[in-house]
Amino acid sequence: MSDEACSDQQSAPLGAVPRHIAIIMDGNGRWATQQGLPRIVGHEKGAESVRESIAACAEAGVAYLTLYAFSKENWLRPREEVSGLMVLLNRFLLDNTEDLKAKNIRLQAIGRLTDLPTSCQVALHRAIEATAACSGLTVILALSYSGRIEIVDGIRSLLREVEMGHLDKGMIDPETFSKHLYTRYYPDPDLVLRTSGEMRISNFLLWQISYAEIIFMSKLWPEFRKADLWSAIDEFSKRQRRYGGI
Ligand code: FPP
Repeated sequence: MSDEACSDQQSAPLGAVPRHIAIIMDGNGRWATQQGLPRIVGHEKGAESVRESIAACAEAGVAYLTLYAFSKENWLRPREEVSGLMVLLNRFLLDNTEDLKAKNIRLQAIGRLTDLPTSCQVALHRAIEATAACSGLTVILALSYSGRIEIVDGIRSLLREVEMGHLDKGMIDPETFSKHLYTRYYPDPDLVLRTSGEMRISNFLLWQISYAEIIFMSKLWPEFRKADLWSAIDEFSKRQRRYGGI
């Protein structure tokens, strides 16, 4: 994506809006380093951008927003950064659940959630329960998430069904497989956004983004604002999706 495209669009876009946007929120650490601040401050500012992106999606009429909040690989970071991120997640859930509910926003999560500290699991399940009946935007947090592990978990789940005689292995097709992924309740993303100028997918929703449009923007995640999301939607609406056809 060009930098002009992620500038200052002041109102929600009027063109075609993606049903599902997935975001790789990158650049918190670099932002903090540039400011001479500890990395955790970058993550704290990143949590503000999370709120901005949720509000921007709700205003634009996006139905699903998936946020890559913590990857399986992120456990390898220094212990104090990991625990700082878990504290931040906990606080985000405690501070925002009522507001999400008031705005009719449903919270969901995907990933190996049992890897999370118990306090985060409890806060997460409370937030999911509290917002379960909300019918507006669905926000899906990807936590301790790995696309490859999701696929392996999906294969294991399929094999169990075959072994129990509930599924004929000759009937396995992409649709059947999709029903065994963490994302089985949601449509595939139409648009993937990644901030910070890195042009990688980093093990995010590998199966689900087969036909998604991808927009890379150089802005670091803590600087991401509503206008950036709306500009990305605007660019999306100008792209022609052919799904391999002509
Ligand atoms: C990538 O930046 C970001 C993360 C690994 C974590 C994402 C977390 C947040 C946006 C804040 C909290 C989220 C919620 C849901 C409350 P990086 O640290 O890899 O940045 P760098 O590449 O510049 O080092």
